[in-house]
Amino acid sequence: ASDAVKQAALNAVNRYAGQKGNLLPVLHDIQHTLGYIPDDAVPVLSEALQLSRAEIHGVITFYPHFHPKPMAPTVLEMCRAESCQAMGANRLIDHARQKLGCDFHETSQNGQVSLEPVYCLGLCAQSPAVMVNGQPHARVTPAKLDKLLDKGA
Ligand code: FES
Repeated sequence: ASDAVKQAALNAVNRYAGQKGNLLPVLHDIQHTLGYIPDDAVPVLSEALQLSRAEIHGVITFYPHFHPKPMAPTVLEMCRAESCQAMGANRLIDHARQKLGCDFHETSQNGQVSLEPVYCLGLCAQSPAVMVNGQPHARVTPAKLDKLLDKGA
């Protein structure tokens, strides 16, 4: 692991040292510091936390929140949960995929936007909802999404 990755991983481990089930907060901590969880953090964590690499890798891939690769400058999270689906989220998602030229967990053709799924943003009354760099937006139409992306991306 590079020094920065090693340092971020060990700092996170120290912060939650001795706590049972501390893998999740440790992973959150690393992602907060580095913006993602590099592959080479896994062996460092495996040794420090006495967990198998497979176990750690399994947790990282299980939670859509964790990113194994660096994110683009703009992160577009689109709600895929029920209420948004009922209000046309799938059409909106297709629009985004086409505009960006990428699928979920990928980065747009121009490298500016990472597309991520989320499952309910608590804005069900104003579906469909998305987040752009952590900012929630409600009642999003394809035209509104284009505006948001042209501004943010
Ligand atoms: Fe999309 Fe709740 S289902 S915000």
